[in-house]
Amino acid sequence: MKAIIDTDPGTDDALAIAMALNSPDLDVLGLTTVGGNASLADTTRNALALAEWLGRSELPVSRGAFRPVRGSFSYAYHYHGPGGLTVRLPRPSGAVMPLRAPDYLAYMAYTHPGELVIIALGPLTNVAQAIRGEPRMRKWVKHLYVMGGAVHVAGNVTPHAEFNIYSDPVAAGEVLGSGIDTTLIGLDVCGEPVLTPADIEGSDAASAGELLAREVVRGWFALRPDGDRYMLCDPLTVAAAVRPELFEHERAAVSVETEDGDRLGKTTARYGEGSVRVARAVRAAEATAVVKEMLAVG
Ligand code: RIB
Ligand code: CA
Repeated sequence: MKAIIDTDPGTDDALAIAMALNSPDLDVLGLTTVGGNASLADTTRNALALAEWLGRSELPVSRGAFRPVRGSFSYAYHYHGPGGLTVRLPRPSGAVMPLRAPDYLAYMAYTHPGELVIIALGPLTNVAQAIRGEPRMRKWVKHLYVMGGAVHVAGNVTPHAEFNIYSDPVAAGEVLGSGIDTTLIGLDVCGEPVLTPADIEGSDAASAGELLAREVVRGWFALRPDGDRYMLCDPLTVAAAVRPELFEHERAAVSVETEDGDRLGKTTARYGEGSVRVARAVRAAEATAVVKEMLAVG
């Protein structure tokens, strides 16, 4: 499966990228970066550094949006650490490609019509701008895997909104309403599959992915001594692409509240119609084991 990962690394993005690059089922053609967890400068530097640290210095990295379609990003350095990661990776020697993310996404969809999947792990600004610029992406993109939303559970930014959607609700509404076949991995299924301090301390970290995960999550726990559960939202989205059977989905049309107010960024599903498969449940223990397995390869 040919894939591009649109990402705002971000600690859980880092684990998700390691899993995807390890997977024999995914041919990751490139990364596109977006602001969100951190500034675009930080997420882009982190994406370049992660690719190099994981032995993929040749992987194209395309820089995307530094702000949402409307407004500005609020960042989450408090959660992901200074610079957007809880580890200091070597400064990357590589550079971003000349094509900006929306054009790169459209070009790759054009050159791989009906084959390309996009795994979107951050605000959907790049994907929305790509579709605005090249509406034929609606036909060319095989599938979108989106980490975002809180359909039947509380949000993690407001009681109604999840971070990626809240960061750019206008873009999210356009992407989820684009008609492209989409799998939505929201907070509805992120609550149970977690890593605990015991998972980390018990890890012998044989592979590059395991070592990265151990140090990233160990650093995350160090930021919050009372923390005991590290959520795997982005890793689950990669797992959903290669192990869909771990999830129960229901087809829906998903809309996003874009009016300012306490419901801004709320995701609402109308079931029985639409092009979005909303993940309603997950086999949590198996999914956690799959995340660990996908990190361990290599
Ligand atoms: O709400 C979780 C999402 O927001 C994840 O993608 C995390 O990386 C942050 O971007
Ligand atoms: Ca993310």
